[in-house]
Amino acid sequence: MFTLSKPLLGKARRRGYALPAFNTCNLGMSRALLAAAEAMKSPLLVQITESTIGYAGLESIFGIVQVLEKQSKVPVCIHLDHGRRLPIIRKCLSLGFKSVMVDASRYGLNKNISIVKKVVSMARRKNCSVEAELGSLKRIGSEAQHLTDPKQAKFFVEKTGCDSLAVAIGTSHGAHKFGGKPKLDFERLKEISELVSIPLVLHGASSVPISLVKKNNRFGARLSGTKGVPDKDLKKAIKFGVAKINIDTDLRLAFSAGIREFHARNPADFDPRHALRQGSSLVQDVAAQKIALFGARGKA
Ligand code: G3H
Ligand code: 13P
Ligand code: ZN
Repeated sequence: MFTLSKPLLGKARRRGYALPAFNTCNLGMSRALLAAAEAMKSPLLVQITESTIGYAGLESIFGIVQVLEKQSKVPVCIHLDHGRRLPIIRKCLSLGFKSVMVDASRYGLNKNISIVKKVVSMARRKNCSVEAELGSLKRIGSEAQHLTDPKQAKFFVEKTGCDSLAVAIGTSHGAHKFGGKPKLDFERLKEISELVSIPLVLHGASSVPISLVKKNNRFGARLSGTKGVPDKDLKKAIKFGVAKINIDTDLRLAFSAGIREFHARNPADFDPRHALRQGSSLVQDVAAQKIALFGARGKA
């Protein structure tokens, strides 16, 4: 049975570590994530997005994670990441998701509150936890971002009754997070954490390791100007109440590097299982490193 995210995250915030929240889109990545969590004896949040649902099909990807969870010795929660459409959120609730994010951060405060309240009341009936977002991360192709206002965050959490809150403190999704030096607004995060006691969530938290970028490039990729969140900043964020850290980009880089390397070194082998296995193996290594960094090792 999938575990609810609320108790997993509450315990993480109280004890000063963060739950690894890893995105998946297929069988190989999902197996790698569960294997890493089990090897590290860590609880795990496996997340899927609306675009993954478009790619894999909701029932198929849910079914994969569900079967793997049944065989797992550690608590696993399945989470809808960036749920923007109510019909999709509804479908996830009826399938048995134990955590959904309702992302209405593109709207003004009042509309965001009213959408989140609606989802919270739907989710309560299905025994599912709810993450909401206030403020917005920089979007690809636009410099605009609105960092979370601490007082507004307190008001938002009281009004909506959400179980965890995604905050914007300077991160963004993808492999190009900062033009210059990485800079997160820790003063803001500290203030939010003093006013808001529910677990905080950090999106856009991949560190985009240079070793993975180089490995991709060595085997045919052309990645340049990449920059991620330094590990030390993630540790600092955990000290200020961040109890769920979202990672997608680093896992994609790992998967892609493994597959590229396999094909480059084995030009006559076109069996997809061989290439995918190498991709998964790198994903498992990266996931295990993150679990250790977030302090979640041994917390299952
Ligand atoms: O928002 C989180 C993801 O990193 C972007 O995911 O490409 O599956 O929409 P997506
Ligand atoms: P990254 O792109 O930094 O991995 O962030 C992922 C994320 O926030 C998923 O919701
Ligand atoms: Zn995100």
